[in-house]
Amino acid sequence: MVEEDVVKVTSQYLRRSEDQIAEVYEQLGIETLSDLAASRPDEIARAFGISEKTARNIVRDARKEASKGIAEPKTLAELLEEEAERDVIPTGIESFDEHMGGGLPTKTIVGIYGPPGAGKSQFAMQVAANVLREGGSVLYVDTENAFSPRRLIEIGGFDEEEAREKIGDRFVLRRIVEAAALTQYFDEEEGEFLGEALRLAPKVVVIDSISQPFRPYGARDKLPERSRMVAKILNAVLKYCTRHNALGLVTTHVQANPDAFGKRWQDVAPTVLKHIATYRFSIEFKGRTERVIALEDAPDKPPFEVEVELTDRGLVG
Ligand SMILES: Nc1ncnc2c1ncn2[C@@H]1O[C@H](COP(=O)(O)OP(=O)(O)OP(=O)(O)O)[C@@H](O)[C@H]1O
Ligand SMILES: [Mg+2]
Repeated sequence: MVEEDVVKVTSQYLRRSEDQIAEVYEQLGIETLSDLAASRPDEIARAFGISEKTARNIVRDARKEASKGIAEPKTLAELLEEEAERDVIPTGIESFDEHMGGGLPTKTIVGIYGPPGAGKSQFAMQVAANVLREGGSVLYVDTENAFSPRRLIEIGGFDEEEAREKIGDRFVLRRIVEAAALTQYFDEEEGEFLGEALRLAPKVVVIDSISQPFRPYGARDKLPERSRMVAKILNAVLKYCTRHNALGLVTTHVQANPDAFGKRWQDVAPTVLKHIATYRFSIEFKGRTERVIALEDAPDKPPFEVEVELTDRGLVG
Protein backbone atom coordinates (compact mmCIF):
# COMPACT_ATOMS: atom_id res chain seq x y z
CA MET A 1 0.00 0.00 0.00
CA VAL A 2 1.40 3.36 -1.00
CA GLU A 3 1.10 5.73 1.96
CA GLU A 4 -0.90 8.93 1.65
CA ASP A 5 2.10 11.13 2.54
CA VAL A 6 4.01 9.78 -0.44
CA VAL A 7 1.23 10.81 -2.80
CA LYS A 8 0.82 14.18 -1.08
CA VAL A 9 4.49 15.10 -1.40
CA THR A 10 4.39 14.21 -5.08
CA SER A 11 1.07 15.76 -6.08
CA GLN A 12 2.38 19.28 -5.40
CA TYR A 13 4.64 18.84 -8.39
CA LEU A 14 2.47 16.82 -10.79
CA ARG A 15 -0.86 17.32 -12.47
CA ARG A 16 -2.02 13.74 -11.97
CA SER A 17 -4.72 12.15 -9.90
CA GLU A 18 -3.76 10.65 -6.59
CA ASP A 19 -4.64 7.20 -7.89
CA GLN A 20 -2.34 7.61 -10.88
CA ILE A 21 0.52 8.68 -8.66
CA ALA A 22 -0.06 5.80 -6.26
CA GLU A 23 -0.10 3.37 -9.17
CA VAL A 24 3.31 4.50 -10.42
CA TYR A 25 4.81 4.22 -6.94
CA GLU A 26 3.27 0.82 -6.51
CA GLN A 27 5.10 -0.35 -9.61
CA LEU A 28 8.35 1.14 -8.30
CA GLY A 29 7.86 -0.60 -4.95
CA ILE A 30 7.81 2.75 -3.14
CA GLU A 31 5.34 2.68 -0.26
CA THR A 32 6.62 4.91 2.54
CA LEU A 33 8.23 8.34 2.81
CA SER A 34 11.46 6.58 3.75
CA ASP A 35 11.26 4.55 0.53
CA LEU A 36 10.75 7.74 -1.47
CA ALA A 37 13.55 9.53 0.42
CA ALA A 38 15.85 6.63 -0.45
CA SER A 39 14.94 6.47 -4.12
CA ARG A 40 16.95 7.80 -7.01
CA PRO A 41 15.61 10.96 -8.65
CA ASP A 42 16.45 9.61 -12.11
CA GLU A 43 14.17 6.61 -11.55
CA ILE A 44 11.33 8.81 -10.35
CA ALA A 45 11.85 11.11 -13.33
CA ARG A 46 11.67 8.20 -15.77
CA ALA A 47 8.63 6.61 -14.14
CA PHE A 48 6.56 9.82 -14.26
CA GLY A 49 8.07 11.24 -17.43
CA ILE A 50 9.15 14.41 -15.63
CA SER A 51 12.43 16.32 -15.44
CA GLU A 52 15.13 15.17 -13.08
CA LYS A 53 15.03 18.55 -11.41
CA THR A 54 11.38 18.08 -10.45
CA ALA A 55 12.12 14.53 -9.31
CA ARG A 56 14.95 15.83 -7.14
CA ASN A 57 12.52 18.27 -5.52
CA ILE A 58 10.10 15.45 -4.77
CA VAL A 59 12.82 13.33 -3.18
CA ARG A 60 14.08 16.35 -1.25
CA ASP A 61 10.60 17.07 0.13
CA ALA A 62 10.21 13.41 1.06
CA ARG A 63 13.46 13.63 3.01
CA LYS A 64 12.30 16.73 4.79
CA GLU A 65 8.99 15.10 5.70
CA ALA A 66 10.65 11.82 6.67
CA SER A 67 13.05 13.53 9.03
CA LYS A 68 10.34 15.55 10.78
CA GLY A 69 9.59 14.43 14.29
CA ILE A 70 13.22 14.12 15.28
CA ALA A 71 12.84 16.93 17.83
CA GLU A 72 9.37 16.06 19.06
CA PRO A 73 8.89 16.15 22.83
CA LYS A 74 9.46 12.80 24.49
CA THR A 75 8.39 11.55 27.89
CA LEU A 76 10.75 9.70 30.21
CA ALA A 77 8.83 6.50 29.50
CA GLU A 78 9.40 6.98 25.77
CA LEU A 79 13.06 7.78 26.32
CA LEU A 80 13.56 4.62 28.37
CA GLU A 81 11.78 2.63 25.68
CA GLU A 82 14.07 4.17 23.08
CA GLU A 83 17.12 3.28 25.11
CA ALA A 84 15.93 -0.30 25.53
CA GLU A 85 15.95 -0.62 21.74
CA ARG A 86 19.64 0.17 21.61
CA ASP A 87 22.06 -2.52 20.49
CA VAL A 88 25.70 -2.77 21.38
CA ILE A 89 28.32 -3.48 18.77
CA PRO A 90 31.30 -5.37 20.17
CA THR A 91 34.77 -4.13 19.33
CA GLY A 92 36.21 -7.55 20.10
CA ILE A 93 38.60 -5.97 22.60
CA GLU A 94 37.50 -7.97 25.65
CA SER A 95 38.48 -5.57 28.43
CA PHE A 96 37.05 -2.64 26.51
CA ASP A 97 33.74 -4.34 25.74
CA GLU A 98 33.41 -5.36 29.37
CA HIS A 99 33.72 -1.76 30.54
CA MET A 100 31.23 -0.67 27.89
CA GLY A 101 28.61 -3.28 28.77
CA GLY A 102 29.21 -5.33 25.64
CA GLY A 103 30.47 -2.78 23.14
CA LEU A 104 29.59 0.51 21.49
CA PRO A 105 25.92 1.49 21.84
CA THR A 106 23.86 2.32 18.77
CA LYS A 107 21.87 5.55 18.27
CA THR A 108 25.04 7.45 19.16
CA ILE A 109 28.09 9.04 17.65
CA VAL A 110 31.30 7.64 19.02
CA GLY A 111 34.41 9.73 18.51
CA ILE A 112 37.90 8.32 18.72
CA TYR A 113 40.93 10.57 18.59
CA GLY A 114 44.65 10.05 18.68
CA PRO A 115 47.95 10.82 16.96
CA PRO A 116 48.94 9.34 13.57
CA GLY A 117 49.57 5.60 13.68
CA ALA A 118 47.83 5.12 17.01
CA GLY A 119 45.28 2.72 15.56
CA LYS A 120 42.15 4.80 14.92
CA SER A 121 41.57 3.27 11.51
CA GLN A 122 42.33 -0.22 12.83
CA PHE A 123 39.70 0.34 15.51
CA ALA A 124 37.14 1.48 12.94
CA MET A 125 37.86 -1.49 10.67
CA GLN A 126 37.57 -3.85 13.60
CA VAL A 127 34.12 -2.55 14.52
CA ALA A 128 33.13 -2.73 10.84
CA ALA A 129 34.38 -6.33 10.60
CA ASN A 130 32.29 -7.32 13.63
CA VAL A 131 29.17 -5.84 12.09
CA LEU A 132 29.83 -7.66 8.81
CA ARG A 133 30.38 -10.94 10.63
CA GLU A 134 26.98 -10.58 12.29
CA GLY A 135 25.30 -10.05 8.93
CA GLY A 136 25.01 -6.26 9.15
CA SER A 137 26.02 -3.62 6.61
CA VAL A 138 28.69 -0.93 6.81
CA LEU A 139 29.00 2.45 5.14
CA TYR A 140 32.62 3.54 5.41
CA VAL A 141 33.64 7.05 4.42
CA ASP A 142 37.39 7.18 3.90
CA THR A 143 38.73 10.72 3.74
CA GLU A 144 42.40 9.74 3.88
CA ASN A 145 42.54 7.49 0.87
CA ALA A 146 43.96 4.96 3.27
CA PHE A 147 41.35 2.22 3.48
CA SER A 148 42.72 -1.26 2.79
CA PRO A 149 40.21 -4.00 1.90
CA ARG A 150 42.89 -6.63 2.61
CA ARG A 151 43.38 -5.31 6.10
CA LEU A 152 39.61 -5.41 6.73
CA ILE A 153 39.54 -9.05 5.65
CA GLU A 154 42.57 -9.84 7.80
CA ILE A 155 41.11 -8.17 10.89
CA GLY A 156 37.77 -9.88 10.34
CA GLY A 157 39.44 -13.24 9.79
CA PHE A 158 37.38 -13.68 6.61
CA ASP A 159 38.73 -15.65 3.70
CA GLU A 160 38.68 -13.83 0.42
CA GLU A 161 36.10 -16.03 -1.26
CA GLU A 162 33.78 -15.69 1.73
CA ALA A 163 34.32 -11.95 1.79
CA ARG A 164 33.41 -11.65 -1.88
CA GLU A 165 30.33 -13.80 -1.78
CA LYS A 166 28.87 -13.22 1.64
CA ILE A 167 30.02 -9.75 2.55
CA GLY A 168 30.74 -8.09 -0.77
CA ASP A 169 27.52 -6.08 -1.11
CA ARG A 170 27.13 -5.26 2.55
CA PHE A 171 30.23 -3.10 2.70
CA VAL A 172 30.22 0.19 0.82
CA LEU A 173 33.19 2.53 0.76
CA ARG A 174 33.07 6.22 -0.13
CA ARG A 175 36.36 7.99 -0.70
CA ILE A 176 35.86 11.71 -0.20
CA VAL A 177 38.98 13.63 0.63
CA GLU A 178 37.88 17.21 0.19
CA ALA A 179 35.97 19.22 2.82
CA ALA A 180 33.35 20.82 0.57
CA ALA A 181 32.65 17.52 -1.20
CA LEU A 182 32.30 15.76 2.14
CA THR A 183 29.85 18.37 3.40
CA GLN A 184 27.89 18.14 0.15
CA TYR A 185 27.70 14.34 0.40
CA PHE A 186 26.16 14.60 3.88
CA ASP A 187 23.78 17.44 2.99
CA GLU A 188 20.43 16.22 4.23
CA GLU A 189 18.40 17.39 1.31
CA GLU A 190 20.71 17.46 -1.68
CA GLY A 191 23.47 15.08 -0.70
CA GLU A 192 23.75 11.38 -1.46
CA PHE A 193 24.35 10.15 2.07
CA LEU A 194 20.78 9.72 3.27
CA GLY A 195 19.61 7.89 0.16
CA GLU A 196 22.64 5.63 0.24
CA ALA A 197 22.16 4.92 3.95
CA LEU A 198 18.45 4.20 3.56
CA ARG A 199 19.21 1.75 0.72
CA LEU A 200 22.11 -0.02 2.41
CA ALA A 201 20.73 0.25 5.98
CA PRO A 202 24.19 0.23 7.59
CA LYS A 203 24.48 -0.75 11.25
CA VAL A 204 27.57 1.41 11.43
CA VAL A 205 28.52 4.56 9.52
CA VAL A 206 32.26 5.25 9.74
CA ILE A 207 33.94 8.56 8.95
CA ASP A 208 37.71 8.01 8.97
CA SER A 209 38.67 10.75 9.58
CA ILE A 210 36.61 13.90 10.04
CA SER A 211 39.75 16.03 10.48
CA GLN A 212 41.74 15.09 7.38
CA PRO A 213 39.62 17.09 4.89
CA PHE A 214 39.95 20.18 7.04
CA ARG A 215 43.73 20.00 7.33
CA PRO A 216 44.52 22.42 4.52
CA TYR A 217 43.01 25.19 6.64
CA GLY A 218 45.15 26.95 9.20
CA ALA A 219 44.18 26.68 12.86
CA ARG A 220 42.02 29.82 12.88
CA ASP A 221 41.29 30.06 9.20
CA LYS A 222 37.51 30.16 8.59
CA LEU A 223 36.90 28.40 11.87
CA PRO A 224 33.18 29.23 12.18
CA GLU A 225 32.55 28.00 8.65
CA ARG A 226 34.50 24.80 9.24
CA SER A 227 32.67 24.19 12.50
CA ARG A 228 29.37 24.57 10.71
CA MET A 229 30.43 22.09 8.04
CA VAL A 230 31.55 19.49 10.59
CA ALA A 231 28.37 19.99 12.64
CA LYS A 232 26.27 19.51 9.52
CA ILE A 233 28.05 16.27 8.67
CA LEU A 234 27.82 14.87 12.18
CA ASN A 235 24.18 15.86 12.61
CA ALA A 236 23.25 14.06 9.40
CA VAL A 237 25.01 10.93 10.67
CA LEU A 238 23.44 11.23 14.13
CA LYS A 239 19.98 11.66 12.69
CA TYR A 240 20.30 8.53 10.57
CA CYS A 241 21.79 6.59 13.48
CA THR A 242 19.12 7.52 16.03
CA ARG A 243 16.28 6.75 13.68
CA HIS A 244 17.72 3.51 12.37
CA ASN A 245 19.39 2.13 15.48
CA ALA A 246 22.87 2.42 14.05
CA LEU A 247 26.26 3.57 15.28
CA GLY A 248 28.20 6.54 13.93
CA LEU A 249 31.92 6.05 14.40
CA VAL A 250 34.10 9.06 13.70
CA THR A 251 37.88 9.33 13.99
CA THR A 252 39.89 12.53 14.52
CA HIS A 253 43.58 13.35 14.43
CA VAL A 254 45.28 15.23 17.15
CA GLN A 255 48.77 16.65 17.21
CA ALA A 256 51.22 16.75 20.06
CA ASN A 257 50.93 20.10 21.76
CA PRO A 258 54.29 21.85 21.84
CA ASP A 259 53.19 23.69 24.97
CA ALA A 260 54.02 20.96 27.48
CA PHE A 261 52.23 22.76 30.30
CA GLY A 262 48.94 22.88 28.47
CA LYS A 263 46.95 20.00 27.08
CA ARG A 264 49.01 17.10 25.75
CA TRP A 265 47.17 17.14 22.44
CA GLN A 266 45.67 19.78 20.28
CA ASP A 267 42.80 19.18 17.91
CA VAL A 268 43.31 19.39 14.20
CA ALA A 269 39.60 19.54 13.37
CA PRO A 270 37.16 22.04 14.82
CA THR A 271 36.12 20.80 18.23
CA VAL A 272 32.43 20.27 17.42
CA LEU A 273 32.97 16.51 17.46
CA LYS A 274 33.61 16.84 21.16
CA HIS A 275 30.14 18.22 21.70
CA ILE A 276 28.21 16.04 19.30
CA ALA A 277 29.85 12.70 20.14
CA THR A 278 28.02 10.79 22.87
CA TYR A 279 31.13 8.83 23.81
CA ARG A 280 34.66 10.05 23.21
CA PHE A 281 37.74 7.84 23.35
CA SER A 282 41.41 8.52 22.99
CA ILE A 283 43.99 6.05 21.74
CA GLU A 284 47.62 6.60 22.47
CA PHE A 285 51.02 4.92 22.09
CA LYS A 286 52.39 3.00 25.00
CA GLY A 287 55.06 1.07 23.11
CA ARG A 288 55.77 -0.19 19.59
CA THR A 289 52.65 -2.37 19.49
CA GLU A 290 51.08 -1.43 22.83
CA ARG A 291 48.33 1.16 23.00
CA VAL A 292 46.07 2.65 25.65
CA ILE A 293 42.43 3.33 24.90
CA ALA A 294 40.63 5.61 27.34
CA LEU A 295 37.00 6.64 27.70
CA GLU A 296 37.23 10.39 28.14
CA ASP A 297 33.67 11.55 27.99
CA ALA A 298 30.39 9.69 28.46
CA PRO A 299 26.95 10.64 29.72
CA ASP A 300 26.41 7.42 31.65
CA LYS A 301 29.74 5.68 32.27
CA PRO A 302 32.75 6.37 34.46
CA PRO A 303 36.07 7.00 32.70
CA PHE A 304 38.33 3.97 32.19
CA GLU A 305 41.56 2.97 30.50
CA VAL A 306 42.51 -0.33 28.92
CA GLU A 307 45.86 -1.50 27.62
CA VAL A 308 45.71 -3.20 24.26
CA GLU A 309 48.05 -4.61 21.68
CA LEU A 310 47.94 -3.84 17.98
CA THR A 311 48.23 -7.22 16.23
CA ASP A 312 47.62 -8.72 12.79
CA ARG A 313 44.04 -9.38 13.93
CA GLY A 314 43.57 -5.79 15.08
CA LEU A 315 43.45 -4.47 18.64
CA VAL A 316 43.48 -7.15 21.33
CA GLY A 317 43.23 -6.76 25.06
N1 LIG B 1 48.84 -6.31 9.60
C1 LIG B 1 49.19 -5.60 10.67
N2 LIG B 1 49.63 -6.19 11.78
C2 LIG B 1 49.98 -5.48 12.87
N3 LIG B 1 49.94 -4.14 12.92
C3 LIG B 1 49.50 -3.49 11.83
C4 LIG B 1 49.11 -4.17 10.66
N4 LIG B 1 48.74 -3.27 9.75
C5 LIG B 1 48.89 -2.06 10.32
N5 LIG B 1 49.35 -2.19 11.57
C6 LIG B 1 49.70 -1.12 12.49
O1 LIG B 1 48.65 -0.20 12.60
C7 LIG B 1 49.17 1.10 12.84
C8 LIG B 1 48.44 2.10 12.03
O2 LIG B 1 47.19 2.16 12.57
P1 LIG B 1 46.09 3.10 11.94
O3 LIG B 1 46.20 3.14 10.48
O4 LIG B 1 44.82 2.64 12.54
O5 LIG B 1 46.52 4.49 12.56
P2 LIG B 1 45.66 5.81 12.62
O6 LIG B 1 45.49 6.14 14.05
O7 LIG B 1 44.44 5.64 11.80
O8 LIG B 1 46.67 6.83 11.98
P3 LIG B 1 46.40 8.10 11.01
O9 LIG B 1 46.11 9.23 11.93
O10 LIG B 1 47.66 8.27 10.30
O11 LIG B 1 45.26 7.75 10.14
C9 LIG B 1 50.62 1.08 12.47
O12 LIG B 1 51.36 1.34 13.65
C10 LIG B 1 50.87 -0.31 11.96
O13 LIG B 1 52.04 -0.81 12.46
MG1 LIG C 1 43.79 6.39 10.02
